[in-house]
Amino acid sequence: MKQVVFITGASSGIGKVMAQYLAQQSFTVYAAARRVERMQDLTHQGINILSMDVTDENSMVAGIQHIIDKEGRIDVLVNNAGFGSYGAVEDVPLEDARYQLEVNVMGAARLIQLVLPHMREQRSGKIINISSIGGKISMPLGAWYHASKFALEAISDALRNEVRPFGIDVVVIEPGGIQSEWSGIAVGNGLKNSSQGAYKQMATKFADAHSKFATRLSDPLIIAKLVWKAIIAPKPKTRYAAGFMAGPLLTLKKVLSDRMLDRILSSQLQ
Ligand SMILES: NC(=O)c1ccc[n+]([C@@H]2O[C@H](COP(=O)([O-])OP(=O)(O)OC[C@H]3O[C@@H](n4cnc5c(N)ncnc54)[C@H](OP(=O)(O)O)[C@@H]3O)[C@@H](O)[C@H]2O)c1
Repeated sequence: MKQVVFITGASSGIGKVMAQYLAQQSFTVYAAARRVERMQDLTHQGINILSMDVTDENSMVAGIQHIIDKEGRIDVLVNNAGFGSYGAVEDVPLEDARYQLEVNVMGAARLIQLVLPHMREQRSGKIINISSIGGKISMPLGAWYHASKFALEAISDALRNEVRPFGIDVVVIEPGGIQSEWSGIAVGNGLKNSSQGAYKQMATKFADAHSKFATRLSDPLIIAKLVWKAIIAPKPKTRYAAGFMAGPLLTLKKVLSDRMLDRILSSQLQ
């Protein structure tokens, strides 16, 4: 029997490539996002598409129910939908900060709640949360994004030990810099919020740094392959990291003091 995989944020970037790759590996794939028109091409590859906003309770409940009605099971949930609400803490409206947490954390948490009863009944399942190296390291102008990813990491650790008795596992994926729409959206928000006031120089340098590194970002396929590895492993690692600068930054975080790491990260923006 083919395993049923449900992926959020599949209209672009990592999620879209992951949906295509997992469909090629003979999984039954359900791909969700708000922009369904951006997923029409996936239907030609045998992928089932769903309209879903992870801030909208009704669309999440209906989406999971649709998969259960069609397949009778969900083997893997990949919480991938997310974006970066960038800008200095002083500048980002708290309404935007709340929305950041709503999409990146509460949406993922609600989908976990919706799939778990089915996974517990099956006595099997994997929940794969797409965090970031930004779930381990917090950088200037990214406070709310990092808060969301640190939260996703914490939820994953607690959840892993809650669901183990039911045969369910939880895996965190920590991408470094990956080619997608993410960077453009994060830079756009950073400039919108902080390019006028006290953090102007930092916001401009942040945008410059992103354009400088744009050609060095990794192919989303490496994250799709990591997710596949986590799905097929009988005992997956709790965390996998890959992508531009993921290895070096995670190592620096482990070995350097906070102040030393501050100096390296800030040198790019001041
Ligand atoms: N790219 C990187 O360098 C990088 C690094 C580390 C971690 N990540 C993480 O990887 C994940 C995928 O990002 P990406 O790089 O592939 O970025 P992307 O190309 O911007 O894709 C983000 C996806 O999330 C979906 N999304 C956003 N808001 C949503 C909402 N309210 N409801 C439902 N779907 C929503 C978008 O679909 P719609 O707009 O159509 O709904 C889109 O499909 C994110 O969690 C991101 O934080 C990315």
